[in-house]
Amino acid sequence: MKLVTIIGARPQIIKAAALSRAIKNHYADRIQEVIVHTGQHYDDNMSQVFFDELGIPSPDYNLHVGSASHGVQTARMTEGIEALLIKEHPDFIVLYGDTNSTLAGAVAAAKIHVPIVHIEAGLRSFNKSMPEEINRIVCDHCSTLLFTPTKAGLENLKREGFPIDESGPSTGSGSATIDHPKVYHCGDIMYDNSLHFANIAEEKTDIIQRLELKDKPFILATIHRDSNTDHPERLSAIFRALIRLSEQCQVVLPLHPRTSKLLKTNLDESLQTQIFNNTKIKLIPPVSFLEMIALERHAQLVMTDSGGVQKEAYFFKKPCIILRPETEWVEIVETGNAILADADETRIIQAWQHFKDNPPTVFPEIFGDGHAAEFILEKMLEPSM
Ligand code: UD1
Ligand code: UDP
Repeated sequence: MKLVTIIGARPQIIKAAALSRAIKNHYADRIQEVIVHTGQHYDDNMSQVFFDELGIPSPDYNLHVGSASHGVQTARMTEGIEALLIKEHPDFIVLYGDTNSTLAGAVAAAKIHVPIVHIEAGLRSFNKSMPEEINRIVCDHCSTLLFTPTKAGLENLKREGFPIDESGPSTGSGSATIDHPKVYHCGDIMYDNSLHFANIAEEKTDIIQRLELKDKPFILATIHRDSNTDHPERLSAIFRALIRLSEQCQVVLPLHPRTSKLLKTNLDESLQTQIFNNTKIKLIPPVSFLEMIALERHAQLVMTDSGGVQKEAYFFKKPCIILRPETEWVEIVETGNAILADADETRIIQAWQHFKDNPPTVFPEIFGDGHAAEFILEKMLEPSM
């Protein structure tokens, strides 16, 4: 069986590591994987570092599309992916999540009848002003095999008319097609990675010592959503909250390049001075995945607008303040381990106080068993496929 895997943005490279590792360890004699990097992320610390660190094979192709507006970026990727699908003629294209690289892969593949496997299917924010919501809906509705990480994902697909068999994890009968897709609830592929790399991260990184965080409580924060970075009033509210929190606790903030660029234009000078001259706020470049895991494991609390980082906070049993009005990962809020504070200074401070007074202790298993990758590959290999 031949797969073409599309990656492009940082979290997709990380997710793909779990599938590539499972192929290498258990299916090398049966599955050939061709990796296509769209080039959506291209800085070394947004891309190459993950190949070096996570043992992912180098991409067979890199489309080098770089940054551009949504339409231009997606169009360039679609053109490149279509040509490669025609050349490689795979049995499946594998798409992760909800980025423009996902959308481009879906459009290119569906039109030339290459079956799509969508990993992280079914997630919805019910907020179509997010580019990711458009991308994930289009991808789900062009897919042949849909793998949802959570029960909420399964429910969302059911509501949209996908056939869900209540009696078991797999649905439908006979061969799956784009018009008769199959949906599986498989657990979260990022959880596979967090379990696999947790101890390795402790051994192989020294970020906790380097940042002088040993035995010191700290808040780990990340911010990169366009809905926060591109709106001065929202970005300012988040940073005002961080400045107030830094009076009580060290803050560590690995900055996505989008955010680094916009801090200087979207925050006023006084706020910039309070941030850049504040030793209790460590602004650092994006870190590697192993470093990120080490930071997550040692942090007292996580504050983020990232999908992946929300989940990893949960995997490592840390409370999380979500800097968005809603989340696709509703279970982590429902279990009381995350609070939606949006970009609202007061709500962020209240959420911090809540978790200080009531540190969460119960984190039910809602993300599967850490073997999502093997499950996905087994389903793809089933004879009816
Ligand atoms: C993208 C995804 C988002 C995902 C995020 C993960 C879309 C629509 N968005 O957002 O869903 O959560 O990746 O990180 O696909 N830049 C660099 N160097 C890089 C990459 C980006 O400087 O290596 C800067 C550029 O100024 C670029 C900006 O970051 O314009 C945004 O990059 P882009 O890939 O368009 O979107 P992200 O915000 O990264
Ligand atoms: N991550 C990382 N270094 C960083 C910030 C994040 O390795 O400096 C990892 C993080 O551990 C998670 C993934 O990147 O696995 C999340 O990606 P991101 O926040 O960029 O995007 P999202 O998940 O929101 O799409």
